[in-house]
Amino acid sequence: MLRTDDGHIIRLEDYRPTDFAIHHVEMLVRLMEGAAEVVTDITLERRPETSETAPLVLDGDELVLTGLHLNGEPVTAEQFDASPDQLTVRGLPARGRFVLRVETRLSPETNTQLMGLYRSNGVWCTQCEAEGFRRITYFLDRPDVLATYRVRLEADRASAPVLLANGNPMESGELDGSRHFAVWDDPHPKPSYLFALVAGDLDPLEDRFTTASGRNVKLVIFTEKGLSHRATYAMDALKRSMVWDERRFGREYDLDVFNIVAISDFNMGAMENKGLNVFNHKYVLLDPDTATDSDYAGVETVIAHEYFHNWTGNRITCRDWFQLCLKEGLTVYRDQEFSADERSRPVKRISSVHGLKAQQFPEDQGPLQHPVRPTRYREINNFYTATVYEKGAELVRMIETILGAENFRSGMDLYFERHDGEAATIEDFLRCFEEAGDTDLSQFALWYHQAGTPTLTITEQYDGGQLTLILEQDLAKGAAGTGTHPFHMPIRFGLVSRAGEDLAIEPVAGEAEIEGDVIHLTTSRAELVFEVGGERPLVSILRDFSAPVTLRHDQPREARLALAALDPNPFGRWRALTDLTGDMLRSASLSETEGRGATYDPAVIEALCRSASDEALEPALRALMVTLPGEPEIARLIGSEIDPEAIHRARRGALRALAEAGGPEFERLRASLSDGSAPFSADAASAGRRALRAALLPAVAIAQTSAAPLFAEFEQASNMTDRLSAISALVQLFPGSDETRSALDAFYRRFESDALVLDKWFTLQATAPSDGSVEAMERLRQHPKFTLGNPNRARALIGGFASGNQRGFNRADGAGYRWVAEQLGELDRLNPQTAARLATAFRSWRSFDAPRRAAAEAALRDLASRNDLSRDLSDILTRTLG
Ligand code: ARG
Ligand code: ZN
Repeated sequence: MLRTDDGHIIRLEDYRPTDFAIHHVEMLVRLMEGAAEVVTDITLERRPETSETAPLVLDGDELVLTGLHLNGEPVTAEQFDASPDQLTVRGLPARGRFVLRVETRLSPETNTQLMGLYRSNGVWCTQCEAEGFRRITYFLDRPDVLATYRVRLEADRASAPVLLANGNPMESGELDGSRHFAVWDDPHPKPSYLFALVAGDLDPLEDRFTTASGRNVKLVIFTEKGLSHRATYAMDALKRSMVWDERRFGREYDLDVFNIVAISDFNMGAMENKGLNVFNHKYVLLDPDTATDSDYAGVETVIAHEYFHNWTGNRITCRDWFQLCLKEGLTVYRDQEFSADERSRPVKRISSVHGLKAQQFPEDQGPLQHPVRPTRYREINNFYTATVYEKGAELVRMIETILGAENFRSGMDLYFERHDGEAATIEDFLRCFEEAGDTDLSQFALWYHQAGTPTLTITEQYDGGQLTLILEQDLAKGAAGTGTHPFHMPIRFGLVSRAGEDLAIEPVAGEAEIEGDVIHLTTSRAELVFEVGGERPLVSILRDFSAPVTLRHDQPREARLALAALDPNPFGRWRALTDLTGDMLRSASLSETEGRGATYDPAVIEALCRSASDEALEPALRALMVTLPGEPEIARLIGSEIDPEAIHRARRGALRALAEAGGPEFERLRASLSDGSAPFSADAASAGRRALRAALLPAVAIAQTSAAPLFAEFEQASNMTDRLSAISALVQLFPGSDETRSALDAFYRRFESDALVLDKWFTLQATAPSDGSVEAMERLRQHPKFTLGNPNRARALIGGFASGNQRGFNRADGAGYRWVAEQLGELDRLNPQTAARLATAFRSWRSFDAPRRAAAEAALRDLASRNDLSRDLSDILTRTLG
């Protein structure tokens, strides 16, 4: 059953168009209990440049062929070869269109990979990106084959009153017995990965939207029965996304209906199928009692992201999967901009940068490193990565910085105009900005091709009223071996006076061009000299993180403390403080490792306290500033020979130091930020107040001698955000206490039947810092509510532990590694994609100390030596070990 590894590598340089074009697809899908029958009429035509005898070779994956006709006549046995993963047909017409009818029989109930057609809680649904359509029918299943589709669905009315596919609804009606049908037509040519159908007993939440040019669109979000009231925020986010894309990019929706379906079992976040987005219900269902503020923000982002794909992904798609960042990087950039406009720009930027450093930097600096536009892959599903998505978004942002807002918008307009209806490449995309900005982006393009995080080193010299900045960039030769040429780095900066004002930038000499507040560094080294007068300014460099680099700025501690207090650029304040805290925790951890007691710089602790209560800053920003870096973040700052126990002790110590300095003030602040008995509101300002209260809670709680006050806070919480921050603090700070046990039990009893909340319950315990964590994990694994069959549940427990419990996963005796490896082996038999994704938790194994490295390697090799591994998992394991 399983696709076992065949070692086959797909290469960009081998790209060539298909021999045949597909103009149109007509499908009849009969859904029954236990089976589905699919009849697909594919209208094909040999391309003029194709030889007259070339056979048609269609992709399949675990398919069973039940019929094959050419223009209505059965195809004879000599004319074709069919295997589960390929259908070859010979002797097809030399010119003109012909119709090939392909019949297949599927078993959605036993499809545990969740690719192709499967059933989730009884609902029939599909996931076709990247290569799932070939699990439904034999096809030219690649993104550069664009066709119109008309789909007829037939099912039992009782089990599937709702029948959906892409495009607009055409007709529907009754059939013999208890069955019915519906026909959908999608007039926009699309690649097969955007195909979708859904059938089931679902509840609709309906609304309408009128586009700028007056098209009246029916919006529907379908949920499982009885849950549609939890989709109201998602609906609101959808309408705001539609307005935003019209205003910001002039992009309108282009069908009469827009449907979203929320389902329980889904490998990823969501999918942008044309006119029929399918979502992991985690990114649709919300209410104050079950969802946190970050869940609300996540829903808003993902709803926007999938909607924005309608233009960046669907109308303009990718020529091949190497171009994945063309749609994903660009669409992440768009959803980030949307959130920045809807909420707070600095807060959004800081969160994005924080996420980039936590996810993308380790990927780019470890064995899974690859360029944003890769040139080879074994399993494309393993390239839906932080590098393609988040670093891809950073590259689009840099284009905007380099061109300026206006030229950037013209470049986007040109891209939409020129490539609408096409399958495009990164080169096509860049050319639009070169023309719009009348500039050469060939050096900039290296960002797409060279893997790794470059280092930017800044050296300052101040002498006689002149400030010299020496900028050096360096890209270490990485595993991907993709080159180390200097990049075009846009470096936004400011020179700040001691009064906290940006000074006018007056360069007197320079080896790099400066435009406004942006330095264009294009060489490996450049010196810039500024006339600054008698007072040495504070250098606020790489503002808004204008390039995705590791910054080495040997800035005096005193200057950083000053910037943390007064940089007019909020990002600059956050970064100055974060750098100080990071340095403090790094050296505290190293002291712990060496058995010397750690010390905590009182000036840094005081800076943290001051930013928490700085009324000039919005609470959400203060929350980000006062939160100590997490254990994995400290590990990254250390980089090698990591000792997670020392890091854990050092971070605890810092929290205590913070509590000692700020405890009473934090309590006062928390009380003043409380909304009291006011009804819950999900807006950004209210969420920001809750975020600051939550950020201060650990420091307040660690100072208390008992868990009782925290338990009271847990019991009194009137929304999930407050409840979860209280119970997390209990689990983290009072792991063995009766109060923690009672809180976990109460939480379980209350939310036992709510899958999304139960996931939180599993994750809470997976991240608990108890010494017997592996044993606790095994008990949770045996819990009746645990299943590997649901990706969210598997991620909650296994991912929660492997990525959220640094000490437990990286236990020196290797028990954490072995336990996770064992789960991955089991999960791989059901769902290779999710197993492979979870396996990336091992990506930094070489950074730990020797005993841990040895243990991790042994666990990885043991798993890799199994002979029944999927291509997905074996690809990740091979690269992680390589
Ligand atoms: N295109 C989707 C999104 O980012 C992701 C789907 C990826 N699915 C997969 N099986 N690789 O919105
Ligand atoms: Zn996407």
